[in-house]
Amino acid sequence: MKNRVSEILNTKYPLIQAPMSWNTDAQLVAAVANAGGLGILGPNAGQKTLTSDPKETAERMRNEIRKTRELTSSSFGLNIISSGEERDNDNPFYNELLRVAFEENIKYFAIVGEANKVLFDKIKEHNGVIIYRPITPTPEIMKVAEKMGADLLVATGYDEGGGLPVKSVGTFTVVPTMVDSVNIPVLAAGGINDSRGVKAAFALGAEGVYIGTRFIATQEAPSAIETKQAILDSGHEDMAFIVKTLRSILTKKAEIILKKHENNEDTSSDITGGFRTGMLEGKFDEGIISVNNGIDIIKDIPTVEELIERFFEK
Ligand SMILES: Cc1cc2nc3c(=O)[nH]c(=O)nc-3n(C[C@H](O)[C@H](O)[C@H](O)COP(=O)(O)O)c2cc1C
Repeated sequence: MKNRVSEILNTKYPLIQAPMSWNTDAQLVAAVANAGGLGILGPNAGQKTLTSDPKETAERMRNEIRKTRELTSSSFGLNIISSGEERDNDNPFYNELLRVAFEENIKYFAIVGEANKVLFDKIKEHNGVIIYRPITPTPEIMKVAEKMGADLLVATGYDEGGGLPVKSVGTFTVVPTMVDSVNIPVLAAGGINDSRGVKAAFALGAEGVYIGTRFIATQEAPSAIETKQAILDSGHEDMAFIVKTLRSILTKKAEIILKKHENNEDTSSDITGGFRTGMLEGKFDEGIISVNNGIDIIKDIPTVEELIERFFEK
């Protein structure tokens, strides 16, 4: 499947495995790279614990980058959360991560959040490729990012897993709207779980797909087997919003959070660490399971290679 996206990514397929913090690691990302897609290491990839030291956090990422390189000779990428020029400037976690990324010659950057010209320019100075995903896509933001030098844009619909766009606009609306607003290629994200979703994305004008949730239920994903099984056993009716921009399968913890909401209690500390405890460790008393709206159709745990071949079957 050669098109503008696979050419820019230098991959067999125009597919990106989306960053999913703790639920990504060298094994998953290398498997995606070896199967013809672009894998992305998310924050805390390959980790089991959190460190509050920015240098240590970045060095752990260096280690995971090197581990990935041992498992694949193909390219892969890194996720940078961008909070905008001013806030990022003083953020040691962000600065240390960028330093390590450049030292390790990472080429592909999935920039998520604010379009940041200083960041884009730095990446270009290092001959990097910018895959930009605003949390809440609008034609204006896409145009700004295109002008700033983004190579690829991701249009994410409200169906997605993880932190949601602040506006509840579905993938079917977001993708063609963003495609029509720019000249560079757009990838579709949000609720793509099988080849029907991939075909729909292309029919809507996307030139590639950016897929998260479906990769959690694969053999290589680091998430707990209990989490993978819970995804197989659940559908969209088993999910609820635990905050306005985050939905979860109704784990015990999610139910506690919902109850607290009803009583107007603060839940911010309940959600912290949710992707690790609930998803990586499979501790449903302590954590949530954040996935997309379309998990009804996820029925097995294939290898990454099987999954990617299926996505692109005729
Ligand atoms: C469990 C989980 C964790 C996520 N963590 C991150 C993250 O660390 N960084 C990021 O940019 N996006 C994150 N996302 C969003 C994904 O990168 C991607 O936008 C989303 O998964 C695409 O929609 P889909 O899940 O319907 O395929 C996460 C998504 C999930 C499901």
